[in-house]
Amino acid sequence: MIQIEKLRKVYRGRGREVTAVDGVDLTVAEGEVFGVLGRSGAGKSTLLRCVNLLERPDEGRVVIGGRDLLALRGGELRRARQGIGMIHQHFGLLGSRTVAGNVAFPLEVMGVPRAERAKRVAELLELVGLTEHAGAYPARISGGQKQRVGIARALAGRPRVLLSDEATSSLDPETTASILALLRDLNRRLGLTVLLITHEMDVVKRICDSAAVMRDGRFTESGPVPELLARPGSELARGLFPLPPAEPRDGSTLIEVTFTGGATGEPFVSALARKYSVDVNILGGAVETVGGERVGRLQLELPGDPPQNAAQLAFLRESGLAVEIKNPDREDAR
Ligand SMILES: Nc1ncnc2c1ncn2[C@@H]1O[C@H](COP(=O)(O)OP(=O)(O)OP(=O)(O)O)[C@@H](O)[C@H]1O
Ligand SMILES: [Mg+2]
Repeated sequence: MIQIEKLRKVYRGRGREVTAVDGVDLTVAEGEVFGVLGRSGAGKSTLLRCVNLLERPDEGRVVIGGRDLLALRGGELRRARQGIGMIHQHFGLLGSRTVAGNVAFPLEVMGVPRAERAKRVAELLELVGLTEHAGAYPARISGGQKQRVGIARALAGRPRVLLSDEATSSLDPETTASILALLRDLNRRLGLTVLLITHEMDVVKRICDSAAVMRDGRFTESGPVPELLARPGSELARGLFPLPPAEPRDGSTLIEVTFTGGATGEPFVSALARKYSVDVNILGGAVETVGGERVGRLQLELPGDPPQNAAQLAFLRESGLAVEIKNPDREDAR
């Protein structure tokens, strides 16, 4: 649905060059929620602005719904861009217009006739749960309600793709949860493909099917969230499940175990302890719901060096768990 290849964007000015996006490849499948996570200055907003051509990339390709956006001009490009909605951190509402007036605005720009416009505005307000506030002005509604207006406005042109630039960053946790639930619901009901950027782990945890971590204009990791969580050394896994710093002791094996889906129901720690008569020491861990799936990470210590635990480690891996050995020096690399 969204396909980005080797995207590069350099800002030039006053003898200074900033490579904001430095060769990003990204595929977002139809109907998927994809999150890009990164610190301030990583290039997230620039990436998003290159996807809807608010910024023209220096290099690369942006293909949405099979159309190469950089090859389009004039009316064709305008129509393609109408198929891409966008929401922002600071909502960007017009203070002089009511809630309904704000949602009507893009429809006016598109030249939708008055009667049809009124009908569409009513539908959109219903969709985001704001029917009762149609006549209110932005100054009189809450942040969460403002973002609902932003979402309704972004959906006015019936886009297939929604881009979200830190849409929940200025909201409190409870309101964030309700906006994320709304986005998830719209994604499911309308089959909307969502590309969102955020610096909040919680956003990824709640609604993303896939995610990428962006740093200095590049993706350092990217893929389906459950897969990233099980990948050794994943920054996303560390962020979602902070474990104590690994301090392997001599004569022991320190491991981090990630389990998803079916494996979460299995009492594998007690099974391991029973089968091999070992005392398993649990040093830390957490189980969370990520993208509607139960995922957990545990830090465990087993007596004996890694080579002595070969059978135990194989048992855990055969049970469908991802196992990372934190003191692998003496174990054959695998
Ligand atoms: N219009 C611009 N002109 C020049 N440099 C820019 C411009 N916009 C962004 N940059 C630079 O590009 C880099 C990436 O900026 P960008 O806004 O994409 O980061 P971000 O990941 O969205 O950060 P934040 O989380 O703070 O929003 C930064 O170094 C920034 O200073
Ligand atoms: Mg930004």
